[in-house]
Amino acid sequence: MSGLEDVVAADSAICAVDGKNGRLIYRGYDIHDLAEHSTFEEVVYLLWFGKLPLKAELESFSKELATHRALPKEVVAAMNAMPKKALPMEVLRTIVSLLSMYDPDGLDDSKEATTRKAIRLTSQLPTIVAYWDCIREGRELKEPKTDLTLAANFLYMLRGAVQDEVSTKSLDIALILHADHELNASTFAARVAAATLTDIHSATVAAIGTLKGPLHGGANQEVIKMLLEIKEPANVTPFIQKMFAEHKKVMGFGHRVYKTEDPRAHHLRIMSEELGKRTGEPKWFIMSKAIEELVLKEKHFYANVDFYSASVYYMLGIPIDLFTPIFAISRMSGWAAHILEQLANNRLIRPRAEYTGLHEQKYVSISQRS
Ligand SMILES: CC(C)(COP(=O)(O)OP(=O)(O)OC[C@H]1O[C@@H](n2cnc3c(N)ncnc32)[C@H](O)[C@@H]1OP(=O)(O)O)[C@@H](O)C(=O)NCCC(=O)NCCS
Repeated sequence: MSGLEDVVAADSAICAVDGKNGRLIYRGYDIHDLAEHSTFEEVVYLLWFGKLPLKAELESFSKELATHRALPKEVVAAMNAMPKKALPMEVLRTIVSLLSMYDPDGLDDSKEATTRKAIRLTSQLPTIVAYWDCIREGRELKEPKTDLTLAANFLYMLRGAVQDEVSTKSLDIALILHADHELNASTFAARVAAATLTDIHSATVAAIGTLKGPLHGGANQEVIKMLLEIKEPANVTPFIQKMFAEHKKVMGFGHRVYKTEDPRAHHLRIMSEELGKRTGEPKWFIMSKAIEELVLKEKHFYANVDFYSASVYYMLGIPIDLFTPIFAISRMSGWAAHILEQLANNRLIRPRAEYTGLHEQKYVSISQRS
């Protein structure tokens, strides 16, 4: 029961995780199929509306997403006033909160308004992340382009120029892989908040704060820090053996549900290898592979989604502290799907605790306490 392990806390038709067989299913579709053939926009539609869109539906949905990328000028001004040392996850959490005050649907939390707010949040999160990196580094802010996909536009705003097809496709696949994962900690936080009938911005703030932790979305940043510290493939074995000896967790390994390979790691491993060849820096993949083999052999832990996404994002030239915000950009789609599902059949989520404290204490006035 500790950590609610194996407790089923909701009925959901969005995402199935089969930990025994290492399968991940969005709305009945296998993640391998979606990673190979779909796009992030199509997956968002699938998660929210429960079916793959027709061509016209996808076009209109993608257009709708693309038109809401800009941030209100007051919000950009607030970002400019923030301390430059602020972590991108802190900025994301704070700006999502601020955006609720500027949302055109205001206090309307009907299903229709919440869906419109979900569209705006999904479109605005990449702008917040890209803008923050530009603001703190003193680079020019690019107006979002409406003729690019979410992944392509994010890279454009971040790097200041439209990026090549391989980089854009790699990010798009990574976004598909991170989009939803049943009742993971941040999605559970979002559902708990939504179940009080609060607004979607508040539920998203709860989710972002939860994703930030190193045991959840923060793990990908820890992985790349470890790879940078290891430096060279020859150092992998002594470094990891020392971690084992010191009983330290190797970030990017282990999972509460998967007892076999995380199916998402398969695609990220391939991308990591390909990007290594393309950038002429194969060592990040080589080191990752060596760590993976060692941890599996000695400790029987499989790599999770965070392990290979670290080297993928690094080779895409993404700053390390944007790794977790990119997870948030993708997971926004899953959070919104779960918030909408929760609201469609809502009941307050209010579990109980087993009381383990003292009983029958007698109040003693402060002057008589020793
Ligand atoms: C994902 C994770 C939080 C799941 O946690 P959990 O189901 O609560 O499992 P626990 O943290 O209780 O771990 C159980 C045991 O396995 C060990 N373990 C778990 N993950 C480990 C890892 N990555 N490296 C080494 N040992 C690990 C724990 O130390 C613990 O050992 P103990 O029983 O001797 O104390 C955990 O595996 C972890 O912390 N992984 C690293 C962080 C990470 O990659 N998070 C991203 C998840 S997608």
